Amino acid sequence: MVYAGIIGTGSYLPERIMPNSELEKMVETSDEWIQSRTGIKQRHIARDDESTCDMGLQAALKAIDASGMDKNDIDLIIFATTTPDQTFPSTACLLQRELGITNNCIAFDVQAVCAGFVYAISIANNFIKTGMAKSILVVGGESLSKIVDWTDRSTCVLFGDGAGAVVITAQDNPGIYNSVLHANGSHANLLEVPSGISRPGNSPFIKMSGSDVFKFAVTSMEAVVDEVLTGTELNQSDIDWLVPHQANKRIITATAKKLSLPLEKVIMTVQDHGNTSAASIPLALDVAVRDGRIQRGQILMFEAIGGGFAWGAVILRY
Ligand SMILES: CC(C)(COP(=O)(O)OP(=O)(O)OC[C@H]1O[C@@H](n2cnc3c(N)ncnc32)[C@H](O)[C@@H]1OP(=O)(O)O)[C@@H](O)C(=O)NCCC(=O)NCCS
Repeated sequence: MVYAGIIGTGSYLPERIMPNSELEKMVETSDEWIQSRTGIKQRHIARDDESTCDMGLQAALKAIDASGMDKNDIDLIIFATTTPDQTFPSTACLLQRELGITNNCIAFDVQAVCAGFVYAISIANNFIKTGMAKSILVVGGESLSKIVDWTDRSTCVLFGDGAGAVVITAQDNPGIYNSVLHANGSHANLLEVPSGISRPGNSPFIKMSGSDVFKFAVTSMEAVVDEVLTGTELNQSDIDWLVPHQANKRIITATAKKLSLPLEKVIMTVQDHGNTSAASIPLALDVAVRDGRIQRGQILMFEAIGGGFAWGAVILRY
């Protein structure tokens, strides 16, 4: 049996840190409000000339280095992003060029907003299981500061920029045990950027009905963490680390409670990174791998929900 396993992680955060105190000067808000409702203390903001691909490149270089692989052995690049550099080519193709990969490997983007990384990991798993690829670079990268309305206090306090990456290879043992993905487009207008290429003229900024998103997020995350364990040999007590999408500390806490996991077993970076959408899970993963909390052989669960709504979860042995 062939399984997909993570053999290297990497991440990148822009140099500029924006603490809540800076937002207090821009909109009517307070550090106390932001921290108590979201857990966020600060976020990183990309330079004007720093793109999603630029950040993804730095994360990818670290992940490839950690994996010990030759970059030209990568046979698939999946870039999860909702803030691509260009309409086309895909950010994955731009990244392939910037990495200097010359083997004509497959490269494409995945657009599932904050669920982008779990969608991309699940796709990578299936490419490995079907034998279509053996060594995959999965990147989640976002420049959300460029689609935030900095005069809208209900959204501008939430988001940040960054990128994370993993290298996944075929192996004999798990690896990824299971992944589940869902979407429900009837909720599209609750979290959206209304303008786009073929429908221009509306707002080009994030618009969100925060409390509706919050309620759906808690319910769907509670359901999906049960669903992803079903049919595996694992149960809740086997989970060593929950590595959730980092949108809001209160959503994360509710999911951990559902899994009967103490917060010490949850990787939490939302306080430092804000919500970095598709980048949040690989960023959190890399932080915890590099600081030694996540160890080889441990069981990890990823879960995320974002605009669409699109959501999902992955259970794996690291
Ligand atoms: C956005 C979120 C933090 C708001 O928290 P909330 O407790 O639901 O707050 P509400 O939206 O009900 O607003 C409560 C009050 O705070 C105000 N408020 C909103 N943003 C504020 C801010 N940044 N600072 C101060 N007050 C703010 C609102 O105007 C409202 O005031 P009112 O009662 O006078 O009308 C919360 O809904 C949330 O996290 N939702 C999920 C968002 C998310 O995760 N999105 C991404 C998913 S990938």
